[in-house]
Amino acid sequence: MSKKGSPVPVTHIPKSEYARRRKALMAQMEPNSIAILPAAAVAIRNRDVEHVYRQDSDFQYLSGFPEPEAVIALIPGRQHGEYVLFCRERNPERELWDGLRAGQEGAVRDYGADDAFPIADIDDILPGLIEGRDRVYTAMGSHPEFDRHLMDWINVIRSKANLGSQPPNEFVALDHLLHDMRLYKSAAEVKVMRHAAQISARAHVRAMQACRAGLHEFSLEAELDYEFRKGGAKMPAYGSIVAAGRNSCILHYQQNDAVLRDGDLVLIDAGCEIDCYASDITRTFPVSGTFSPEQKAIYELVLKSQEAAFAAIGPGKHWNQAHEATVQVITEGLVQLGLLQGNVDELIATEAHRAFYMHRAGHWLGMDVHDVGEYRVGGEWRVLEPGMTLTVEPGIYISPDNPHVAKKWRGIGVRIEDDVVVTRTGCEILTGDVPKTVAEIEALMAQARTEAA
Ligand code: GLY
Ligand code: MN
Ligand code: MN
Repeated sequence: MSKKGSPVPVTHIPKSEYARRRKALMAQMEPNSIAILPAAAVAIRNRDVEHVYRQDSDFQYLSGFPEPEAVIALIPGRQHGEYVLFCRERNPERELWDGLRAGQEGAVRDYGADDAFPIADIDDILPGLIEGRDRVYTAMGSHPEFDRHLMDWINVIRSKANLGSQPPNEFVALDHLLHDMRLYKSAAEVKVMRHAAQISARAHVRAMQACRAGLHEFSLEAELDYEFRKGGAKMPAYGSIVAAGRNSCILHYQQNDAVLRDGDLVLIDAGCEIDCYASDITRTFPVSGTFSPEQKAIYELVLKSQEAAFAAIGPGKHWNQAHEATVQVITEGLVQLGLLQGNVDELIATEAHRAFYMHRAGHWLGMDVHDVGEYRVGGEWRVLEPGMTLTVEPGIYISPDNPHVAKKWRGIGVRIEDDVVVTRTGCEILTGDVPKTVAEIEALMAQARTEAA
């Protein structure tokens, strides 16, 4: 942690890595082809107000270029440079209102473009760059407006066919190559993700320390946001969930406006984003600082299932083994607690756990919180390899209205979520800085209350 007043250390992806990624993608492209990707558009929130700008993850992955109204063209073998970037021109008046722009000079100098053109000239220039190439790699379907522009550019080439213009014959989905690359994190990516995880861990600790009955869920959200911004994160990686009492049983709860009451649990699922890399942490703790016996029983069962999942993650193990481990432990535990009745193997075969544990144990994590990458290859679960990053997030949610369980269990919702990277021998937990056992959580909360008294 940086000392009071000292600058926050900034972790980011080095320029050389973006160059390496572009080269790696171009090396996988068929001969005589071009890849074209648009930047994310600015999204209007209402009238003159815009949403905070977030670059498209694929565009960011290949360029690190943070501006809207830009297009990347990668043209392996092009004599005047393989990496062409179209972007906004410098404009002193617009920059006075909206902030600095890299311009074409900045695109080359600061972002490694071999050649840069004004975005306003793209209709005149890009058809000429596409012409004569056999294949166009593009993310078809994700940017409908850009797809229409692309067809316009292709039609420009077609309209000149009688003059000898050669339109491309094939369109290839870029996602397949790019998303497989994104699945394997480099050392620099893991470093950025570890940094995001550490900031998010501090945010969860701060929320636990600040928790008191009578506050609202949004009071704890404010504690999270404070640590995110203080750590240098521009924004959360997704809408924070702060769910107290019965709200903890709503999986994507985001209202965050209920009052915290003694006797209830509060489930917080929140993580920040650093340099477009996500973290994703869930902790569940008692508003009062002390778990009730039923809350503790459910909590420790979820924790045990998470530990079983960690043991099932490593090179050579397949994607679903972690999930299967959580289902085994949770089903056994629910039978022991009397929440499920029957033979464990039969209950697993019929997926009886889904009444209480209705999601999967995790997802790929990276530039997108639910990151890209296939979970199956050739119909089989993907085998884990070093550098893959994923979440491990089992949960048990007992609906407040479930008539089939004793009243004492109702309204208890627990999820515990950590982020891991697959290593050569198993996995490294990136989010280990937040207390997790019942004893650790109760001790942290008790200490915060003593200090405040
Ligand atoms: N926060 C979204 C998730 O855990 O998947
Ligand atoms: Mn989450
Ligand atoms: Mn998650």
